[in-house]
Amino acid sequence: MQKQNITFELSIFDSIDELSAEDNKLMNDAVAARGDAYAPYSNFQVGVAILLENGVVVTGNNQENASYPSGLCAERVAIFYAGAKYPGVGIQTIAITATSINHVLTDPAAPCGNCRQAISEYEVKQKKPIALMMMGEKGKVFKCNSMADILPLGFNSSFL
Ligand code: THU
Repeated sequence: MQKQNITFELSIFDSIDELSAEDNKLMNDAVAARGDAYAPYSNFQVGVAILLENGVVVTGNNQENASYPSGLCAERVAIFYAGAKYPGVGIQTIAITATSINHVLTDPAAPCGNCRQAISEYEVKQKKPIALMMMGEKGKVFKCNSMADILPLGFNSSFL
């Protein structure tokens, strides 16, 4: 029997102001997208901005539905649109920000399991890591270098 520790590097920035100019712009694009979320049931608004390797930024936000499971998270709205509109173009960085109408969220919001799986598919497909930034409404920003970092031992098509 062997034991192995799986670790990953998480960069923690005190605020959006500490980010590089490129990352700062991308997170601000996510903040703008967050404001357009359709979240009347949860009052929890999520915005995402995706920087593609051709320089295009694709944004998305959560879209809820009176039939709750029919809604979709911001990350999947954005990444499916990127895949649909720019097939074959690499994904460089994804910025995620979330807040609640009921309170000010100052903790970085990490993507749910379904979104990690969906983003992981594109990372595996492009054979290149996708960097992720996460932020609440404001405050600290977490950045990791790859979706695989926060979805270790993920499922992918090689198992099929
Ligand atoms: N949500 C996202 O958009 N992304 C996540 O990673 C987690 C949750 C949305 C779904 C729903 O509209 C609301 O946040 C509350 O769960």
